[in-house]
Amino acid sequence: MSTRPRISARISAISESATLAVDAKAKAMKAAGRPVIGFGAGEPDFSTPGYIVEAAIQAAREPRFHKYTPAGGLPELKQAIADKTRRDSGYAVEASQVLVTNGGKQAVYEVFATLLDPGDEVLVVAPYWTTYPEAIKLAGGVQVDVVTDESTGYLASVEQLEAARTERTKVLLFVSPSNPTGAVYSPEETAAIGRWAAEHGLWVVTDEIYEHLVYGGAEFTSIATAAPELGDRVVILNGVAKTYAMTGWRVGWLIGPSDVVKAATNLQSHATSNVSNVSQMAALAAVSGDLSAVAEMRTAFDRRRQTIVRMLNEIPGVFCPEPKGAFYAYPSVKELVGKELRGRRPQSSGELAELILEEAEVAVVPGEAFGTPGYFRLSYALGDDDLVEGVSRMGKLLSEAR
Ligand SMILES: Cc1ncc(COP(=O)(O)O)c(C=O)c1O
Repeated sequence: MSTRPRISARISAISESATLAVDAKAKAMKAAGRPVIGFGAGEPDFSTPGYIVEAAIQAAREPRFHKYTPAGGLPELKQAIADKTRRDSGYAVEASQVLVTNGGKQAVYEVFATLLDPGDEVLVVAPYWTTYPEAIKLAGGVQVDVVTDESTGYLASVEQLEAARTERTKVLLFVSPSNPTGAVYSPEETAAIGRWAAEHGLWVVTDEIYEHLVYGGAEFTSIATAAPELGDRVVILNGVAKTYAMTGWRVGWLIGPSDVVKAATNLQSHATSNVSNVSQMAALAAVSGDLSAVAEMRTAFDRRRQTIVRMLNEIPGVFCPEPKGAFYAYPSVKELVGKELRGRRPQSSGELAELILEEAEVAVVPGEAFGTPGYFRLSYALGDDDLVEGVSRMGKLLSEAR
């Protein structure tokens, strides 16, 4: 019998998505009749706007959309994405520089597969979204963490980035607004980081999926426009999931120089071919329409954001800086780890999150999933009443910690 491992080392190294795992556990408990409130899922609680759904219904009726279409995306959608990018980021791109992907996630995998050779280093600001490490690893890249904390609102400085740079650094991953922290870099900070990357010949991969979800005085800035010095060494990742409440439709994209886009399109042509035409036509209606739907969601998220931050900071041992974008709060719970609570003494934020799920029936994602133990991520993309009830339950439980 072969003694060779059944699963390849490369794939064995991939861990389960912690955010999806928390969500699945909460849903299973709910299905079993327990009144669980979930702060795990990273998706808007709104439905996709009607005009977008209508566009999909029309497309489903058209025989030409029952067939294969170009692997890189429908030409009209690529053009609309180029136009939208100019409108929202002030960044001029041609349709040929766009690759339409199966969600932003596929764009993440494809960009690292396209840019990285084994051993190439990628600077990643921690806390980071759980998918990046897996995509970097699978491409043979080496992730180098640049760890931030609540004292700077989870923003990395040029000095910190420079301290992590080596001869092998090829890419800086830039995510603003950030999942999981909600941090948003100012236009000046963004430009300074972009200039520094350009000075050292680095590529910048920038994930702009939360571009329209910024609050208060915060402003979204595309690093591609803020630092023209980067020239063509920028790849933008984006998608319709968060802006138009379209997580299930699976449409994202990657924008970059034509050689990168061509290479990534070759990869996609062998992996998945074209994204579902029906979804692409829905995305076309979304990106070529106005931004009123996201404005409505933003108002609701902003209200919930203020409520959750206030309530979290009222819990003894919890400290939450104000998130400026996306729909996540990222409080520190370091002071509570190791304390006695309902006869147990959780030794990590992971164990504390488990205890909260069992005792308060509230699901949060522990910071371990994002490269920084000692924190929780709470998505506030859930109904106002559930939000208040969930944080109250958690607060009541945590105030028993001794
Ligand atoms: C930062 C970030 N980028 C990309 C994505 C990918 O989204 P999707 O694959 O649903 O388009 C997500 C989803 O959670 C995200 O949070």
